[in-house]
Amino acid sequence: MMNLEQVINYAKTLIKACTKSGDITIDATVGNGFDTIFLAQVVKEKGIVFGFDIQKQAIENTKKRLDNYKIKNVNLFQVGHEYLQEYIPNKYHGNIASAIFNLGFLPKGNKAITTKWETTIEAIKQILNIIKINGVIVIIVYPGHKQGKLEKEKLLEYLSTLDQKEEQVLTYKFINQINDAPFLIAIEKIR
Ligand SMILES: C[S@@+](CC[C@H](N)C(=O)[O-])C[C@H]1O[C@@H](n2cnc3c(N)ncnc32)[C@H](O)[C@@H]1O
Repeated sequence: MMNLEQVINYAKTLIKACTKSGDITIDATVGNGFDTIFLAQVVKEKGIVFGFDIQKQAIENTKKRLDNYKIKNVNLFQVGHEYLQEYIPNKYHGNIASAIFNLGFLPKGNKAITTKWETTIEAIKQILNIIKINGVIVIIVYPGHKQGKLEKEKLLEYLSTLDQKEEQVLTYKFINQINDAPFLIAIEKIR
């Protein structure tokens, strides 16, 4: 047991800190649905999860998994997260508590289907438009593959330009791990 939380656990800690029962939240990269289920359990039956993934298989697998858990408060879209603002009904805009991204490719899936920095940044911009004040976006970045390394660089470049009066941005990263270990970026909208 270590006192410094591992990156994936810390992502959950941050989500739980800003997301309560009845809240609205976004899973921007549904994949096999593990984060989707976690979010659905955090917001409980009165809350809503909006989930996005471009892969049919990801959406189908997650639908089955949600059925098994008898979870009904999730809206899944087989749509790129760069279009999320269009798909999340206007009445929820300004009232989103949190969002999570698990970047890269599905561990046992097609490694050619990976998130890309252009669309990831577009999705972040859209979430910043519709998230509430003190809402938090949590992003797990995987720089261990080529596309992921580029995505990391572009994301850090873009996020470091955000106005500190509007958003605060942090990284949570172990700096002595080998093999470009995953790390976390969190963005809180403050104005
Ligand atoms: C690391 S996996 C996500 C793992 C997932 N959170 C889980 O719990 O299993 C990344 C996912 O992002 C998806 N993805 C890639 N580009 C996307 C995009 N533009 N919009 C939404 N999802 C995308 C991939 O299809 C893949 O399923």
